[in-house]
Amino acid sequence: MSDKIIVIKNLKKSYKEVNALRGISLEVRRGQIFGLLGPNGAGKTTTIGILLGLLRPDSGSVMLFDQEVFYSNTKQLQKLKEKIGVLLETLGLYEPMTVYEYLMFYARLYGLLESTAKERVCEMVEIFGLSEKKGTPIGKLSKGMKQRVAIARALIHNPKLLILDEPSTSLDPVWQRCLREQLIKAKANGTTIFMCSHNLTEVERICDYVAIMGHGVIKARGELKELLNAFEKQITIEFETVSDLKKAEILLESSNFRVVSKQRNSLVVAGRNLKLHQLLEILYTNGVKVHDTKEHFVTLEDAYWSVVSNE
Ligand SMILES: Nc1ncnc2c1ncn2[C@@H]1O[C@H](COP(=O)(O)OP(=O)(O)OP(=O)(O)O)[C@@H](O)[C@H]1O
Ligand SMILES: [Mg+2]
Repeated sequence: MSDKIIVIKNLKKSYKEVNALRGISLEVRRGQIFGLLGPNGAGKTTTIGILLGLLRPDSGSVMLFDQEVFYSNTKQLQKLKEKIGVLLETLGLYEPMTVYEYLMFYARLYGLLESTAKERVCEMVEIFGLSEKKGTPIGKLSKGMKQRVAIARALIHNPKLLILDEPSTSLDPVWQRCLREQLIKAKANGTTIFMCSHNLTEVERICDYVAIMGHGVIKARGELKELLNAFEKQITIEFETVSDLKKAEILLESSNFRVVSKQRNSLVVAGRNLKLHQLLEILYTNGVKVHDTKEHFVTLEDAYWSVVSNE
């Protein structure tokens, strides 16, 4: 088996007059946490719908676990879905059931033995803080609690692949952290994760690979680190005296550092892979007194802005 869990080639999908996907290609490797980002309406949920066989593409192909997906083959789709844990935007919960009944129903559906199912449901209920609500009908839970039930359902059978549409929606910071920890744990146990998210901090913390969509196409993609390294970092250096500043500017520029702005007592240096210690070494060895420094690291938000603002 290859290490590619999802391979999408030139996927196109339109809803009557709306061109939702205009040729998407991407690959998700085994054990990766893949983050799909993009503005509202970019086509993320449509991509997920096609991956899960809920929507049929107009053209293009999807391979899951090395098998080409045939949209008319319901048996094949069913078999594939057994290996996948799913969280959709629309949660799809059955509100009259209690939390316990619902999770047990899914655990049995995925073929877990009765004793394993009970253990697993208790574990999930505990992890997602639902112990006190075990006997409560899902319809009577808060929004964030419903989200936690849906996440627990996605994880219940330790799936080989998790497909999650905005998993941290409605979660407070405590449960956002819990979700992150559970996703990292799932990855450590060999689960591959494909998720859409608007939560850039979350993506930055857990994703290995990121793709940014806009208007039905992929605008940028890459390993998270590579994507960030493509952008310039900035360092602000504050000096004790104006003569220190003047001397520093000459020294830095003659060492091929780029000074991008100058204030009364500070300089801003910009560049890719800029290292603070290299700047300080040049300044110290030439007797320049530095008062303070500030590093402005490139964040995923910077990368995201630069991609989506060029639309
Ligand atoms: N059932 C539908 N019928 C008609 N148009 C649709 C339907 N579902 C989605 N669309 C359109 O397809 C485009 C892509 O929508 P999609 O839901 O895939 O975006 P998204 O990236 O998931 O956005 P969001 O961040 O808001 O969840 C949008 O222009 C949307 O209006
Ligand atoms: Mg969506």
